[in-house]
Amino acid sequence: MPFRIAVIPGDGIGPEVITQGIRVLKEVIQHTGSDLDFETYDLGAERYLKTGEIIPDPIFAELQSADAIYLGAVGDPRVKDPQYAARLLLRLRFELDLWVNLRPSRLLAPGLTPLRDASTIDLVVVRENTERAYVGIGGQFKRGTADEIAIQEDINTRKGVERIQRYAFELARERRRTGHRGRVTMVDKSNALYHAHDLWQRVFALERQRAPEIEAEHLFVDAAAMQLVKDPARFDVVVTSNMFGDILSDLASELVGGLGQAPSANINPDTRRGLFEPVHGSAPKHAGKGIANPVGAILAGAMMLRHLGDEAGANQIEEAVMATARERRTTKDLGGDLTTSAAANAVLERLERIGSSRPL
Ligand code: NAI
Ligand code: MG
Repeated sequence: MPFRIAVIPGDGIGPEVITQGIRVLKEVIQHTGSDLDFETYDLGAERYLKTGEIIPDPIFAELQSADAIYLGAVGDPRVKDPQYAARLLLRLRFELDLWVNLRPSRLLAPGLTPLRDASTIDLVVVRENTERAYVGIGGQFKRGTADEIAIQEDINTRKGVERIQRYAFELARERRRTGHRGRVTMVDKSNALYHAHDLWQRVFALERQRAPEIEAEHLFVDAAAMQLVKDPARFDVVVTSNMFGDILSDLASELVGGLGQAPSANINPDTRRGLFEPVHGSAPKHAGKGIANPVGAILAGAMMLRHLGDEAGANQIEEAVMATARERRTTKDLGGDLTTSAAANAVLERLERIGSSRPL
């Protein structure tokens, strides 16, 4: 039975990068034998502006039953409803309970980092993906007046904090087996948010006790931002809350070459559901020009393959992307001069070479 992949190209540069990601996936599975069946859903701004629909219920049910969702980006300057993205992307993350957001930042080639002395950066941000202020509890009172009050509640549950920290320790253990340092850095702001983040502290103390063999440290989020720039090599697995993970992962991706190359996975390790997407948004100013970097989407495809059990395919894609980055056969943002499709062609050529040198 093929895996059923629900594809949501979405808005802006989303469709351009997802098209290239699918080309790469189709090439690699010829060598590894995985069977993927892609079905495209035209959800996004175009549909919303025409029909007012964001995710109609029957489509939501189909997305829910897919083996994985592969998404481009959501966001369009023509859509004025501030809840539009939340009702599409956050709805999928929340209602499918995709509580882990994995955002790896790996220096693909020396020279891509803006930092003076960094030679290796290879870390993963493990972002809690279903809580904090993003849940949308709150309201406004006396809106538009001088007495206005705006409240957005910061939700942290025992269950949510425990499962994400435990996942991070597991990941560190797994990474240690594959030659990484295997160290957990828990990031919070418990010195100021002493109710909500005291929970993160107490859970961290328990998780450390459960896994004494894993090296673990704690940093406040402001110090973590500073250390990411000062000494990124100290980080391996960074576990943190929804909002801090959102911010620190953008910072981390810039340290390894920029948003255009950054992939992410939203997963539920219990149900095995997953949504895979580049970290970047719809970059409207780049849309339709053929200049968007497809690498974030391509690497998100690799994360999807790994999640579906095709480790060899994922590794081959990552190897091919690293080779093209070293050769600067990339789009402009990574120092090359290629268009979106030419950058994907470079990855495809590499893959063909890797594939033909390996037994099926
Ligand atoms: P953005 O990530 O779309 O773009 C920021 C800048 O990063 C771009 O102007 C461009 O210079 C660069 N960039 C991003 N992706 C690139 C790529 N593939 N190749 C080359 N350069 C790239 O963030 P922005 O401008 O804040 O948001 C634009 C829209 O996207 C908004 O509507 C926002 O809400 C939405 N958004 C959606 C996300 C998602 O779907 N997961 C995530 C972030 C923003
Ligand atoms: Mg973000």
